[in-house]
Amino acid sequence: EDPKLLPTPPMGFNNWARFECDLNETLFTDTAQSMLSRGLLAAGYNRLNLDDCWMTHERGADGALQWNSTLFPHGIPWLADYAHKHGFHLGIYEDSGNATCGGYPGSYGYEQKDAETFASWGIDYLKLDGCNVYPEGGRSMAEEYKLRYGQWHDILSAMAEPLIFSESAPAYFSENKTEWANVMDWIPFYGELARHSDDVLVYVGEGSAWDSIMVNYHFQTLLVRYQKPGYYNDPDFLITDHPGLTDAEKRSHFALWASFGAPLIISAYIPDLSDEEVRFLSNKELIAVDQDPLAQQAALVSRDGTFDVLTRSLANGDRLLTVLNTGSSSAKTSISVARLGLKGQCQYKARDLWTGKTSSIRDAIGINLDSHATAVYRITPGRGCTSVTPTGMILNTV
Ligand code: GLA
Ligand code: GLA
Repeated sequence: EDPKLLPTPPMGFNNWARFECDLNETLFTDTAQSMLSRGLLAAGYNRLNLDDCWMTHERGADGALQWNSTLFPHGIPWLADYAHKHGFHLGIYEDSGNATCGGYPGSYGYEQKDAETFASWGIDYLKLDGCNVYPEGGRSMAEEYKLRYGQWHDILSAMAEPLIFSESAPAYFSENKTEWANVMDWIPFYGELARHSDDVLVYVGEGSAWDSIMVNYHFQTLLVRYQKPGYYNDPDFLITDHPGLTDAEKRSHFALWASFGAPLIISAYIPDLSDEEVRFLSNKELIAVDQDPLAQQAALVSRDGTFDVLTRSLANGDRLLTVLNTGSSSAKTSISVARLGLKGQCQYKARDLWTGKTSSIRDAIGINLDSHATAVYRITPGRGCTSVTPTGMILNTV
């Protein structure tokens, strides 16, 4: 909610989708070194986020959470210090219930204590999951989550240096669209980002990684109206080194998330990413779209054959055009500027953010896309060609 806390979506690394509970200090220090030397920190990826399984199975005698000292021999405060010295922030994971999804101590009943512990360790970002939440006092599930996330919001925002609050509550309601929408109504006021759907496929998981990306993509398109500077819908991690993805799918995953203005949290083994993967993840113009200060989310405005067409306004007056070919073969299409709410019979410049090439268009733009590939254009209106219908054509909404 607080634009001062997080004016643009977070970018960085999280271990979960790639390593699950197989995390340790070396993974984080190696990742930090690699992000530095490969230019990802300079490109804006400045957060290192620990996910589940960093702690011990019991709280300490004083009730505080304890890190697993086999995994983190120098301790979490040391890791935070290491991160800060190298230009990163450190984030952490906890759960609002009795236990985390991985079975470690949850924060229920210890909220204030845990917030103070994290702050004292040098952490400035909390992902709060929603496993093992059991309603009390006759409350419904939705009421229970609202109460707990509200309590965390109050605690975190009252701190001398408020922590960024990443909420997972909506992901626990996505199967019932009415409840999901009700939960979404308070989410943007309590935190800075929120997971709204299932986990993208983990590295060793069975199933189609692309399908899991498309499921979260679809849920994200329903939430356009909630996003604003200081609050971002989170379709989950970028699984850029997943062996089940084609090169086109990896690029699309990034381009779609950037078009959404979504968190760009890479869950991959960064030292082993190919140079080409690092190159596209560092694409300055796509990152500028992701980080655009208007913080609009691209909205789905048309579904023509196998083509999904999305658009949003950008802070400098440009219009974004993102086109995904969801089909299994390459195909051609032509998108009229009217689809984007722009006047026809006018001069536009269309800059392809993958190639950096700019062309002049009037009424439409021709696009040729491989299976599962995504094109992204910045459309600059000529004189008198400003938009006629800036919003209001959104296809999907909840
Ligand atoms: C104890 C444990 C450490 C760490 C700290 C946290 O010292 O041995 O591993 O968890 O508590 O305060
Ligand atoms: C849930 C979350 C994941 C991850 C795991 C950890 O599944 O959605 O992102 O945090 O818990 O156990």
